[in-house]
Amino acid sequence: MKIGFVQFAPVFGDRNANLNTVARLIEGCSADLLLIPELFSTGYTFASHKELLSLAEPVTGPTFEALLQLCKKKSICLAYGYAEKDNDVIYNSMAMIDPNGLIGNYRKIHLFWDEKDLFAPGNNGFQVLEYEGTKYGLMICFDWIYPESARTLALRGAQVILHPSNLVLPYCPDAMVTRAIENRVYTVTANRIGEESRAGKNYAFIGMSEIVAPDGKILCRAQKEECCQVVDIEPGIALNKKVTPRNDLLADRHVKYYQH
Ligand code: ACM
Repeated sequence: MKIGFVQFAPVFGDRNANLNTVARLIEGCSADLLLIPELFSTGYTFASHKELLSLAEPVTGPTFEALLQLCKKKSICLAYGYAEKDNDVIYNSMAMIDPNGLIGNYRKIHLFWDEKDLFAPGNNGFQVLEYEGTKYGLMICFDWIYPESARTLALRGAQVILHPSNLVLPYCPDAMVTRAIENRVYTVTANRIGEESRAGKNYAFIGMSEIVAPDGKILCRAQKEECCQVVDIEPGIALNKKVTPRNDLLADRHVKYYQH
């Protein structure tokens, strides 16, 4: 199957501009599933909880509606990060949708830096969603630094990890190679680019969106350009957890020694 990511610099607070950029980038891409970065429709650097509340939306809000039309037009599955409003509680969430509608929704568990002032930590656990015979595990940006996130998804059967991001630290692209190897899964990281200077804060996003194979091979990695990149993967490979004929990655865990 063909899987890819979109990388671009969202305009803070301008949902329509960001949806138009995504539509333009996807237009020229042929893929079965595309991943769009964390918080792509709002931008990242919220000045206050009040501002975030004004920009957040329910899971089936305007971002979902616009992307659903794109799914139908392109006969494609999309996964994307957005600010989710559930009554007055806001989550840093990602949804996975196809032309028939919502497949699933994940709320980021490990919040990064000032996100802790803005969002509630995810309350619906890690999600593994089956779509057209493949199992997709969802995690968002800073979830990467906890190996437990990817491991939990792998233990639940994920073959491909979808990882929308707004990375500012330099470590993650290389760390995802390890996440792929140690779980024998594909990983897709869709990061953003550009800078945001607002409310006394300045973030520079590192780009380097990438797709990594279960053997750790980097199938594609962007630099800091606006792009849509797609590769062919075989998710069935991720079902084989044998590192050697005598080492099964998951079956050989010695869980009793992992307690603390
Ligand atoms: C991050 O979690 N957005 C770094």
